Amino acid sequence: MSEEKTFDLIIIGSGPGGYVAAIRGAQLGLKTAIIEKDENLGGTCLNVGCIPSKALLHSTEMYHFAGHGAEAHGIDLTNLSISIEKLMAKKSKTVDQLRGGVQHLMKANKIKVFSGLGMLAGDRKVRIKEKNDETMLTGKHIIVATGSTSIELPFLEFDGKTVVSSDQAIAFDKIPERLAVVGAGAIGLELGSVWARLGSQVDVIEFLPAIAPSFDKDVSKMAERLFKKQGLNFHLKTKVTGLKKSKGKSILTAEKDGKEIEFEADKVLVAVGRKPYTDRLGLDVVGIETDDKGRIPVDIHFKTSADGVYAIGDVIPGPMLAHKAEEEGVACVERIAGQAGHVNYKVIPNVIYTEPEIASVGQTEAMLKEAGIDFKSGKFNLAGNGRAIATDATDGFVKVTACRKTDKILGVQVIAKSGSELIASAVTHMEYGGSAEDLGRTIHAHPTLSEAMKEAALAVDGNAIHST
Ligand code: NAI
Repeated sequence: MSEEKTFDLIIIGSGPGGYVAAIRGAQLGLKTAIIEKDENLGGTCLNVGCIPSKALLHSTEMYHFAGHGAEAHGIDLTNLSISIEKLMAKKSKTVDQLRGGVQHLMKANKIKVFSGLGMLAGDRKVRIKEKNDETMLTGKHIIVATGSTSIELPFLEFDGKTVVSSDQAIAFDKIPERLAVVGAGAIGLELGSVWARLGSQVDVIEFLPAIAPSFDKDVSKMAERLFKKQGLNFHLKTKVTGLKKSKGKSILTAEKDGKEIEFEADKVLVAVGRKPYTDRLGLDVVGIETDDKGRIPVDIHFKTSADGVYAIGDVIPGPMLAHKAEEEGVACVERIAGQAGHVNYKVIPNVIYTEPEIASVGQTEAMLKEAGIDFKSGKFNLAGNGRAIATDATDGFVKVTACRKTDKILGVQVIAKSGSELIASAVTHMEYGGSAEDLGRTIHAHPTLSEAMKEAALAVDGNAIHST
């Protein structure tokens, strides 16, 4: 069966980039369609990424507190136990609720949802294949928002059972005794934390000399120290070489300083990054060539080399983050509608949702040094913050970096409880080109952790009130 339909805007992929673009399109009066190949809307972030991992992090944080912190508050939780089945059911409930939310938003905005694999067919057409049905859509504008998928190491192929990606590591049906995690980036640290809190022996193997290597060195160092105390074992400057079987057990092999080391593991989570997902998308049909990393090249208005075809989110260059994809979706559609959509790539926050959380925005000190920019930094330790002392949140610090000449904030690094929330005020100040003094003179409620942000900004010129 084949049918043909016409739209102003067709979006392929319903992750945060795609579905937000669809809503903005509908708001701007465009007749909009969205195509999704998976069973549910929401993409990686909602179904197997950001949301389920945050649900697991929250549950396991509470479990960890119950086992390690509650007693000091006079809370007696003898005979503590955890049911993995219920933990996973709670996570699924969160995901289901949000899936329903996205569906509702599509309906409320009169966006036509098509289920099936969307393929560029040339002449501003998109073919949707689902089982034996084929539908052809014609769109004045087509946005590719097909996201990304986990990178596989050639010598450590995913089998979905022992060697897994985050897709499976958010859904183990029992707690692995030994979990090896390859990569100490966002996924490795978040999911490593989840399973360590549940009792797994977790070995994190990282190629570089630091965990969370995209953050400032002092942040990485403190994170390493704190997460070690939580039971994560780090093996830095270590190169994974393969997996072998010995006496029925899986052994991950690696190399450090020229020596071979082995890690017995029930599960191996490979978290070494993600790559753009463009399988069977028909890029060749419309003449789009990807770059050396498989990304779709676009201009500043997200236009690809094919007429009427745009791309946003993880399939194009830039950090693979849901909020970056969302902003690009909005900006792309606003451009299509004749407005001045724009993404400020200089102020995209980056967060790792461990405990404490790691968050940053702007340039790192290493980037500033490399660029030869003269800067000054102010640091404030959470140990000097009243709310932190009252809520067991004294681990960590906030650091504000500003231009020595103009005082303009150039970067902010946070390692603190609720760091993901704290970073927001720095992002706002930076969006408006604010100075460290602007941030330092902004009134923050007392007592809050956010006062550490204000104090760090004051510390840039040596004016922090509560530091010694
Ligand atoms: P990542 O790029 O954050 O970290 C990968 C880590 O693996 C790096 O530290 C890298 O040095 C290391 N690595 C690479 N090859 C290796 C090897 N052969 N042996 C040992 N270590 C190796 O990638 P990750 O954690 O897989 O996340 C994928 C994407 O998803 C990233 O773009 C990330 O930003 C995004 N994401 C964001 C989250 C958040 O915002 N909280 C959460 C999860 C993912």
